[in-house]
Order: sequence, then structure tokens, then C-alpha cells
Amino acid sequence: MHRTTPNHRISVCTSCKHKGATCEPGYDLIKRLREAIDAAGDAIPEAFEISGVACMAGCDRPCTIAYHGTRKATYLFGDIDADEDIEALVAFARQYSVLHDGWCSSVDRPGKLRRTTLARVPAAITIVEHSPEPVQ
Ligand code: FES
Repeated sequence: MHRTTPNHRISVCTSCKHKGATCEPGYDLIKRLREAIDAAGDAIPEAFEISGVACMAGCDRPCTIAYHGTRKATYLFGDIDADEDIEALVAFARQYSVLHDGWCSSVDRPGKLRRTTLARVPAAITIVEHSPEPVQ
């Protein structure tokens, strides 16, 4: 069990329409991924919060799952199957947790995640410019 407050997040879509209904595989994926991440323990150096989200605009590629971290690139993966891909998802959590900016190429990602990336979005670096004069 991780001792720190999570600063990384995995979001799983719970509204993909696999069978014309709410995505039960999404809920199952959340449960199984939580168990697998907990079981990995200190092999994953950062704590992950794993939660459901209603739609990440990858609706044609269910299940969709995203990895986010502070000051890190965000990834969106599609075609995820809870029966086949838990090992690759845990391996990517381990990999992602040690990448300082979250950036990696497709050939370095585990398993199916090499070919099912729907988006890789660079971290937002926001610079706030301060005017020396107060706004009137
Ligand atoms: S309903 Fe799952 S990504 Fe849109």
C-alpha cells in the first residue's frame, strides 16, 4: 500500500457503449486495476488515484483509459480489455511514475499500449506574466 497522497491519476471511462448500456467493463477495469496497483506496492514509486469518468471522446475505441500526472504528459489509450491488459497497464504505471515529464515513445510502452494510444498531450507549462502597473 502506498503511503503518500496520490499525485498521479488513472481515469477510466465508465460510459463507453459496449453493449448498448453503461460500460460494466469500465467499472470492472477500475476494480481490477486498483487491486493490481495495490499488489505492485513499492514497485510503483508514485501513488495513483484510479477513478471513473464519463467519456473522454474516444467512444469508438472502448474501453478508454488516461494517465495523468502533475507536470507530465497525459496519455489516452483505447481498446483496453480488463481480461487482457491489466499487466500492461500496471507496467505503464510503473514506467510513467519515473518519467520526469511523462514523455515516452510508442516503442517503449508495454504490450498493447504501443499501438492503442489515442493521444499524448504534453504537460501544460503555464507562464503568468505580471504587469508592473496595476490594472485600472
Ligand atoms: S463514452 Fe467512453 S470515451 Fe466516450
